[in-house]
Amino acid sequence: MSNQREQWGSKLGFILAAAGSAVGIGNIWKYPHMAGQNGGAAFTIVYLICILVVGLSIVIAELVIGRKTQLSPVGAFETIAPRSNWKWVGFLGVGSAFVILAFYGVVGGWILKYIVLSLSGGFETLTGNPTEAESIFGAFISSTWSPIIYQVIFMALCIYVIVNGVKNGIEKWSKIMMPLIIGLLVVLAIRGLTLPNGVEGLTFLFKPKFEDLTASSIVLALGHSFFTLSLGMGTMITYGSYLNPKQNLLNSALWVILLDTAIAMLAGVAIFTTVFAMNADPAGGPGLIFFILPSVFPQLIGGTIWGTLFFVLLFMAALTSAISILEVVTAYFIDQKGWSRKKATIQFGSVITIVGIFCSLSYGGGINITAFMGLPFFDFMDHLSSKYMLPIGGMLTAIFVLKKWGVDNFLSELRSGMDNSIISKELIVVLMGIAASVVGFIILNEVLDLAFGIKLIQ
Ligand code: PHE
Repeated sequence: MSNQREQWGSKLGFILAAAGSAVGIGNIWKYPHMAGQNGGAAFTIVYLICILVVGLSIVIAELVIGRKTQLSPVGAFETIAPRSNWKWVGFLGVGSAFVILAFYGVVGGWILKYIVLSLSGGFETLTGNPTEAESIFGAFISSTWSPIIYQVIFMALCIYVIVNGVKNGIEKWSKIMMPLIIGLLVVLAIRGLTLPNGVEGLTFLFKPKFEDLTASSIVLALGHSFFTLSLGMGTMITYGSYLNPKQNLLNSALWVILLDTAIAMLAGVAIFTTVFAMNADPAGGPGLIFFILPSVFPQLIGGTIWGTLFFVLLFMAALTSAISILEVVTAYFIDQKGWSRKKATIQFGSVITIVGIFCSLSYGGGINITAFMGLPFFDFMDHLSSKYMLPIGGMLTAIFVLKKWGVDNFLSELRSGMDNSIISKELIVVLMGIAASVVGFIILNEVLDLAFGIKLIQ
């Protein structure tokens, strides 16, 4: 183990990197379509409660564990709880990184393809009927080579950033890309708001329709709060491990949550104002950004530019998240196995790319792996991680703080760097307790449903 662990260059650099991890496809692709299909504002309210109660607690827990141990998840749990089974929570995190990045890299490739398509005027011939754009998308993702080539390029960029290290790779690129993401989204949101009828999109997003909210939307909102904040797999433990004791962790956690939520809302505004102005279907589901928007942009003046900007911003958001996932794997091999950064990143970045190729092929491409436990391999990896692995990892992290590490030890690390002690022991116990029990209940509900078809909440 090396004793000169790399550190972030500045406080702001760390916050932008951690927010860069959080802000990703989850904010710009998943959140808007989930809200679109689950009652708009009603879903948003539940999602915000999950973020504030469960998300905030786990972000803080992970950052504190990482900074205390100065190690990535496996080493971190092992250091605080030596000779115990807790290190398996760390391994679960490394495993989740493989599962998530495999399919995330494929989506990263799709986005790259859409930048190229938009730039080359590929959307201009669309008449506004989404079925046309849908068939373009369908034909692309079900072809063999094209999605794989774009996925490999996306993964190569990830590997490039991570090989350059914490300060010169992750931090440098996050500092460039995060302000651009926010700037582009603000421009797109203003553009949407100034379109005729655009404001209706706001009503849809912010006026609750509780009758559309079901128990499964609540489960969805909770699972998504883990995914969107990059929790439950040690990303924040790893990023926290490059911090020094002077950083105020409560403050940092609040910034990450604020930026993540603000960007999801801005994306919602940009997308739904445009969708409503052009009379498209807001409940278009996962296809919202890949076929509703491409058929909407060409109807706007300067549509090619707006379309291209949108996909460029989505690409940057995806990249800053994907690098954080790869960093969890790389840091494990550096910390625990003594490998060089370059060797760890290239070898395991390549392994994940290969697993991702199977995700891509599961949508077609001649190899029949479409039925994997009843799901295409791609969807299986998505469900496995966001419904089970991340919530389980998050719940165990909260239990670890309460039962193994102890709230007093946890608090003394959290207080370092904070000039006040607004956080009391009782508050931590309540927050971690709520986080662990709510998530535990939801996981139980999912497992019972999967195994016996029993639903505790309807
Ligand atoms: N938070 C990212 C997003 O919203 C995804 C992610 C999950 C990143 C887990 C890191 C770890 O897209």
